[in-house]
Amino acid sequence: MSVSVTCDRVVKKYGDAIIIPDLSLNIHNGEFFTLLGPSGCGKTTLLRMMIGFNSIEGGAIKFDNRIINDMPVSKRNVGMVFQNYAIFPHMSTFNNVAFGLKNRKIPKAKIEKRVDEILKIVHIQDLRDRMPDRMSGGQQQRIALARAIVIEPDLLLMDEPLSNLDAKLRIETRDAIKNIQSNIGITTVYVTHDQEEALAVSDRIAVMKDGVIQQVGTPKDIYNRPANRFVATFIGRSNIIEAKLITKNLKRSILFQDGFIASLDTWNDEALSLPDESSILISIRPEEFIIRDTNDGFGGIVRSKTFLGPNTYYNIETSYEQVLEIIQTSDELHELKKDDPVNIDFAHHKINVFNADGSKNLLLGVDSNE
Ligand SMILES: Nc1ncnc2c1ncn2[C@@H]1O[C@H](COP(=O)(O)OP(=O)(O)OP(=O)(O)O)[C@@H](O)[C@H]1O
Ligand SMILES: [Mg+2]
Repeated sequence: MSVSVTCDRVVKKYGDAIIIPDLSLNIHNGEFFTLLGPSGCGKTTLLRMMIGFNSIEGGAIKFDNRIINDMPVSKRNVGMVFQNYAIFPHMSTFNNVAFGLKNRKIPKAKIEKRVDEILKIVHIQDLRDRMPDRMSGGQQQRIALARAIVIEPDLLLMDEPLSNLDAKLRIETRDAIKNIQSNIGITTVYVTHDQEEALAVSDRIAVMKDGVIQQVGTPKDIYNRPANRFVATFIGRSNIIEAKLITKNLKRSILFQDGFIASLDTWNDEALSLPDESSILISIRPEEFIIRDTNDGFGGIVRSKTFLGPNTYYNIETSYEQVLEIIQTSDELHELKKDDPVNIDFAHHKINVFNADGSKNLLLGVDSNE
């Protein structure tokens, strides 16, 4: 039976180094949950605490309501898939997958039936008797996945399972993992530092930095309403623009450095209570800009452009000398040239606004721990 996983004020230390200072998380039963963050932020460390390869220096990890801090690995019933396949090179697909069942002293006929079922689920039944050295990385990773799920674990952990695969195979295997997970409905904690992969597979994502959770939410929440500057720039690309908060016609508004003013209706209480002239940071994604023929928006000069097929990518310098990354749908009729003067507006409902140090989003609809 699949379980929920709760981390309650978890602490991890290696010697004197505090890797995870105080981490709390609720992972729901059956969900595909991803830990996403830069290299060294503690993703593998936390996963290893869940399976039992790492000790816990404070707080508790629970499977449903059971605290598992001191439970031996063999009692936890957790399946794990590693980055480097970790399958036995001298065993056929069948024997690799059957290995965990043989250890459990299950009758031979039952093992055969169960392994064949799993091979079908992960679509490698044709490779049943083949040896790993005659298979692609993606096929080997499917064996590793089959081996992890054949024991009917309560929890499936995957640590960067796609990072050794080339780009095309990565997408194919990623989609297969997502489908298999949703068919068998097992709680899955997936680790990656690839933000696109996280957006594609996850029900929810926890963005981590330096052992601290920055935001937990659905891929859409996190992309559209990042909780802070780090999340806005780590997930997708964002231009960060310094501006001031002002009040104009009784409305809280943004004053850009070249005098352009944009009013928003979606401020949170903190934004409403900040004094006029407070410094703020505006976060605008490249695709959220709109280049206008009118005078709305900032003035700028096209400094360079790159044609990328469906989209064209521009570097545009504002009058206050910030170079913005802007993406527009390629359109020969409205193609801009180097040194063209332009006016740049943006989709006002899509941008995000942070306080001066970038630690908090000042708009409504942001939940950093949902
Ligand atoms: N056994 C260990 N002893 C001491 N420090 C360790 C040990 N294992 C990991 N660390 C440190 O803990 C921190 C977190 O490492 P971890 O492997 O969890 O990062 P990660 O988020 O998985 O990174 P990556 O994306 O590179 O795999 C790093 O600073 C790392 O150097
Ligand atoms: Mg790691």
